[in-house]
Amino acid sequence: MKIEKLNQLYEGKAKKVFETSDPELLIVDYKDDATAFNGLKKGTIESKGIINNKVSNFLMKMLEEHGIPTHLVEEISDRETIVKRVKIVPLEVIVRNIAAGSLSKRLGLPEGTKLGSTVLEYCYKDDALGDPMVNEYHIFAMNLCTKEELDTIASYALKVNEILAQFLAQAKIELIDFKIEFGRTSDGTIILADEISPDTCRFWDSETGEKLDKDRFRRDLGNVEGAYKEIMHRLLGL
Ligand code: TMP
Repeated sequence: MKIEKLNQLYEGKAKKVFETSDPELLIVDYKDDATAFNGLKKGTIESKGIINNKVSNFLMKMLEEHGIPTHLVEEISDRETIVKRVKIVPLEVIVRNIAAGSLSKRLGLPEGTKLGSTVLEYCYKDDALGDPMVNEYHIFAMNLCTKEELDTIASYALKVNEILAQFLAQAKIELIDFKIEFGRTSDGTIILADEISPDTCRFWDSETGEKLDKDRFRRDLGNVEGAYKEIMHRLLGL
């Protein structure tokens, strides 16, 4: 049965989400809009929507093949993908292998410092509060998810890190850190949702250390489009 795109449910900073003729499915539509610092910095990255759609679907498919359940159903156009409808758990789940960004700033570790062990962080998804970092106690105190759900989320996040880091290494990309989000399907199953793209990961060239991600936009490093294209080229050959 053909899935029809119905009314817009939500417009975020980088994507629009639409209801469909199937109550269990949504269509996400990736935009070229880019923001940073909680929306303070605004811009456009040409073709970003197309690249993030394709890169995210490619990586989600690869993760599915390695046993991680994801929301991916089917890419239907350059910018649009059918995904399973979920209620997003309001947590940004961050995994870090190498010090960078806010971790470097907070702990005084120079960017590029190899961490002695993998770091897992949670931020409460709330734009008005600037997505504050929270720990397990805060998460349970605010009833953001159950203990069982958080165990599942943490275990998937660390597994995603292992699989993704190994996979990207073959494309000479070092996975510095990334942010993922999870959702609950209608039957309560926790699955990987949102996106995995140069917007939500730090990717450094393994040989030169060149930044191939949204930090080029955040920090005005230039050649933002080129970096996104390079990631798509290395992963999908496009
Ligand atoms: P951070 O070092 O700024 O905390 O970022 C950690 C990772 O999370 C990095 O790969 C970029 C990603 N990220 C997002 O996807 N969305 C955000 O809003 C922020 C702040 C970071």
